[in-house]
Order: sequence, then structure tokens, then C-alpha cells
Amino acid sequence: MDRIHITGGTPLNGTIPISGAKNAALPLMIASLLTGDTLELANVPRLADIAALVRILGNHGVDHMVVGKRPGQTTETGQTIRLTASNVIDTTAPYELVSTMRASFWVIAPLLARFGEAKVSLPGGCAIGTRPVDLLLMALEKLGARIEIDGGYVVAKTKNGLRGAEIDFPKVTVGGTHVALMGAALAYGTTVIANAAREPEVVDLAECLIKMGARITGAGTPRIVVEGVARLNGARHEVLPDRIETGTYAMAVAMTGGDVILENTRADLLHSALDVLATTGAEITQVPEGIRVRRNGAGIAAVDVTTDPFPGFPTDLQAQFMALMTLAQGQSRIRETIFENRFMHVQELARLGAKIRLDGDLAIVEGVERLKGAPVMATDLRASVSLVIAGLAAEGETQINRVYHLDRGFEALEAKLGRCGARIERVRA
Ligand code: EPZ
Repeated sequence: MDRIHITGGTPLNGTIPISGAKNAALPLMIASLLTGDTLELANVPRLADIAALVRILGNHGVDHMVVGKRPGQTTETGQTIRLTASNVIDTTAPYELVSTMRASFWVIAPLLARFGEAKVSLPGGCAIGTRPVDLLLMALEKLGARIEIDGGYVVAKTKNGLRGAEIDFPKVTVGGTHVALMGAALAYGTTVIANAAREPEVVDLAECLIKMGARITGAGTPRIVVEGVARLNGARHEVLPDRIETGTYAMAVAMTGGDVILENTRADLLHSALDVLATTGAEITQVPEGIRVRRNGAGIAAVDVTTDPFPGFPTDLQAQFMALMTLAQGQSRIRETIFENRFMHVQELARLGAKIRLDGDLAIVEGVERLKGAPVMATDLRASVSLVIAGLAAEGETQINRVYHLDRGFEALEAKLGRCGARIERVRA
């Protein structure tokens, strides 16, 4: 298995191009199942999760084409892909495929809305918690689907198509909102989605669906209204920048020191996280190319955070922020309210010399003066990258195992950091 070797202690200086958002690209690709026309998506990151979803969609009969390189494009400037679901031959998503990536469960909504049936494996547990799908199924039932669980599969059917309804989520769910949007887009009548997720990725999906002919208002607010249409058409859409990748590199600079421009990204996608970073002492400015993050030698101030649905502090940046706080001056309290088991990085950060105490959903981080490199590993994507950040700031060598987690969500990680002066390399197994 590949490993990443880091020799820490070098500040980051230069420019990092930010990729298209994985968590926007995935639902956008799934939305291709809503139409027999071609959906062209630009700025799609080259990631293992994207490749896995291409395989899953291919199993349903979706054709996939990668548009050739254009002038000025590098292997890091995102790819343009075309997806055409004109010959869907199978409305079943098998366990072997769905278990490789949870988000693929969302295919249930477009399959059901367009073909009246879908059989999709339950995704099962994952490293960051139980992550049930009850609210996704509730949304589909409200839209008139009949749902049964049979042999580990959700079997969903509708007799005469889905029907508009009032869907009131008792808890904010990104996946639930994606599923409700895709189902309602082709339902008969009006759907109101209350307590909808406001994440930028939800807005991106809604904007793409609108280009495909859907009638949606209110995306980005807690109340989305969808007037169903009989059919959707093809469209071209550019995936929005990855706010989690942006925040991750911003935290890396805040921790190692230096001066980096994060290119092709937008501050409004993660304002609360940037506000928190500024409070720790990093200088954050908007520049025409994107966002500039600077930190000089002055110490890192300790700040408390609580993860929350957007526009709150994202759970997908919690591990990275904890890495930063391990070197803060004083105590930081980090509360995780979205996932019940998202502290796997704590034990690994401790291997680098961090002082962290867990108390239920609260991590209490006592800043230390320095971290020292060590072999570490992690069991999810964001936890793994928190170890990269910590390794960059630690003295000596850090070796990160199970690199496949990073490949799921960070495009060209070593190249992007390496060009800014980081001493980081991949050792192929
Ligand atoms: C999305 O997951 C993201 N994944 C996650 O990113 C992200 O952490 C999460 O949203 C929260 O922002 C993708 O976009 C592919 P949720 P999702 O439904 O949609 C509970 C990463 O590292 N819940 O908003 O699965 C759930 O257990 C990943 O890129 C139910 O109880 O998350 C959680 O506590 C990890 N029942 C909360 O809601 C349900 O039916 C929010 O989950 C659904 C969710």
C-alpha cells in the first residue's frame, strides 16, 4: 500500500489551485440519471470517489466520456465529463458497488423518479458513525414511493410516478436534501422541502437541475420549493470549487506559517471557517485569483469551535482544525455535533505529541510547543488529511499509511503542497 512521507518544519509559500468539489460533483453526476440527454460537467476533480461513481453509473447503463485536454489545461485543472443515461438497463445498485461509496445510495431518487422503481443496497456503517438513511427514505415516501427492505436492499416503487409533497426534515441532512430535490424535480405537482440543507453543494445541484429544466426556488435557504416537470433535458454545468480542500490548505498554512494563494476558490463558500482561522491569527484576504492566507511566526491563538450545518463550521474541517489547535497557545474546545464518531484522528495526533482529551462529543485540546513526526494512519478522508497538516508542522519525519483515503478526496495533494515548498512524497508500495 502506498505511503506518504513528510519531513516537517517548512513553511508553505506559493499558489495552490483548488479543484472542483467532490461533494458537489457526486450528486451532479447522479443527476445525469434524471434525463436521457447528455449532462456535461466541467471542473470535475480526478479522485477515486469520482472513478467509483463512474463505475456505479456505468452499471446502470450510463455512458461516460472524458472530454480531451484543452489549451492551458494541466492534469490538475479538472476534467470535463459527459454522462448520458439514454439506455438505463438496470435499476439495481448492488452491495459490492454501493458499499465502496455511501453517496452512491442517492441514485435511488433519480431512478425512482424517472423509471418508477429502484433497488439499492443499504450502504452499511462507515468509519465516522452509523449514518442511517431513514430521512432519505422518509423523503421518498412523502413523495409517494412504496419502500420495502429486502435482503439488505431498499426496494422503492411508485405506481404512477412521484407526487409533490411537504417534506419537513427533523434534522438537516445534505444527502436527504439532494434526494428530495432530485425526486421532486420529476414529481407531479409542488414539493416544499422544509429545514433543507443550505450547503453550497445543495445550491450547485439545484442550479444544475434548473439548467436541466427543473423549477426550483429557495436553494441555499431552509425552504426549497420545487414545481415538478414531466421531463428534464441535458445541460452543461461547472462544478463549484471545493470549500473543504480550500479550508484544509488554509489551515495547513495557518499551522506551518507562510504565504499562499488559494486559486480558483471563493471565500463565501466557507466564511465561518475563515473567520475562525482569522481569529487564530492567520491573515486572510480576498484577492482576484481567490484567497490569500498568510501567517508569520507569531503564535497560534486557541479558539473554540462547534461543528454545525452550513453556514456553521463544517464537520469536514473539524479534524484539520484540531490539528492546528494542537500547536495553539492555550486550550481549545472542539465540539462535533454532526457525526457521533468523528474523532479517530485524536489517537493518531497523540502519536505526534498532541495533548487531546475526549469527553463525549467534545475534544479538549491543550496546545503544545511542538509536534514530533511519527508513523500514523487514519480511517477516513478528513482525518487522514489532518495528519498530513500536522506532519507538515511537526519536527522530523511523519509517515502516513492508508493513503487511499486521501486519494478519495484530495486531488494531486503531494504535487500541490510540494510546489509550495513542503517536503512531501509518495512512496509506492
Ligand atoms: C454529506 O454526507 C457529505 N458527503 C459529508 O462529507 C459531510 O460530512 C456531511 O454531508 C455533513 O456535511 C457528501 O456530500 C458525499 P448528512 P451526508 O445526511 O449527506 C444524520 C466527506 O468527508 N442522518 O448531512 O451523508 C447523519 O447520521 C463526507 O467528504 C440521519 O440521521 O450527511 C448525520 O448525523 C463525510 N438520517 C447528520 O444527519 C438520515 O437519513 C447529517 O448527515 C441521513 C442523515
